[in-house]
Amino acid sequence: MLSLAYKGILKPILFRFDPEDVHDFFMSTGEWLGRHSFTRALTALPYNYRGPDISKVVDGVRYRTPVLLSAGFDYNGRLTQILSSVGFGGEEIGSVTARPCEGNKRPRLMRLPRSKSLVVYKGLRNDGVDAIMKRLKSKERVKDFVIGVSIARTNDAQSATTETGIADYYTSLEKFTDARVGDYYTINISCPNATCGETFIDPAALEPLLDALDEIPTLVPRYIKMPISVPMEQFDALLAVIAEHEINGVIIGNLNKHYNELAYPDEAPKEYHGGLSGKVCFTRSNERILRTKQKYGDALTIIGCGGIFSPEDAMEKFRLGADLLQLITGMIFEGPGLIKDICKEYAKRQLVTSH
Ligand SMILES: Cc1cc2nc3c(=O)[nH]c(=O)nc-3n(C[C@H](O)[C@H](O)[C@H](O)COP(=O)(O)O)c2cc1C
Repeated sequence: MLSLAYKGILKPILFRFDPEDVHDFFMSTGEWLGRHSFTRALTALPYNYRGPDISKVVDGVRYRTPVLLSAGFDYNGRLTQILSSVGFGGEEIGSVTARPCEGNKRPRLMRLPRSKSLVVYKGLRNDGVDAIMKRLKSKERVKDFVIGVSIARTNDAQSATTETGIADYYTSLEKFTDARVGDYYTINISCPNATCGETFIDPAALEPLLDALDEIPTLVPRYIKMPISVPMEQFDALLAVIAEHEINGVIIGNLNKHYNELAYPDEAPKEYHGGLSGKVCFTRSNERILRTKQKYGDALTIIGCGGIFSPEDAMEKFRLGADLLQLITGMIFEGPGLIKDICKEYAKRQLVTSH
């Protein structure tokens, strides 16, 4: 019912407007709804998951539900009080950078409705570590909701070399760790839209980055956001480096850069080429989840992300080895009822396997 109402009524209206304007509207509305227990309860009425206990402890962190909002939606940490009412067990804020980033020029977000994808060319737009940490500290925590923080390299010339890039990540992680803000941290090495490039998706550059970050005390779990567009040998080499460091697991993965894999490549804009989210990420993400599980078993936690549009898509990622899930684009195309539907399906599967 929820999904029909969203797809039949609300989505056709929303999809007539500029995607970034719609996003800004939902950010303000969501932040406002999250401020009061009454509006939180009202939002929870149709959208929250209330079935059997599906909570899960991963790397010592308890998730009420195993579905998280992925990095890139709430990049400034404004929705921490409302997302639990929609069934999310947590969210990943950011990506956050040491200094504020303006992002690329608009338009930097575009829908590809037939391909069920978004072209993302945001360029790490965010308020920066200090402002975001202050915001997170000032907001009252909602019970049973995990807040992860995604950290990326500042998208400017100052952090463009390997050395300054490492120093930039180090500063951000150290500040969050010292302030005890964040239930887990993700090191985003795979933003396809940063002007200074993706230096650290080269295993030889990742090694010194992780050596440096190992020096910061590990108080909460740490994950790496993996690229899915690189060749499998490079993906394997990155995993080999990661497995030797103070990293609990991997998020598989980030945006897809292969435009020829879109269901309708002619839908893509000619003017700019950002990373692609949604359906076009599904297969690459799944292949790499399975490969990581086969090679590392339980030694690396796997957070499955990319192209989840239905409970079946979600179960496929669990079946291949994911411990938790993250999503964004499916929620935009299918509506926020998707999260509850995934939780219900997950509960059903758990009941079947426990009998
Ligand atoms: C608008 C938008 C912005 C994003 N920004 C970030 C980001 O800042 N950091 C990051 O790690 N991933 C970012 N991503 C990638 C998502 O976290 C996710 O990996 C990707 O979209 C695949 O999941 P999906 O198909 O469920 O959207 C962004 C995605 C979207 C749609």
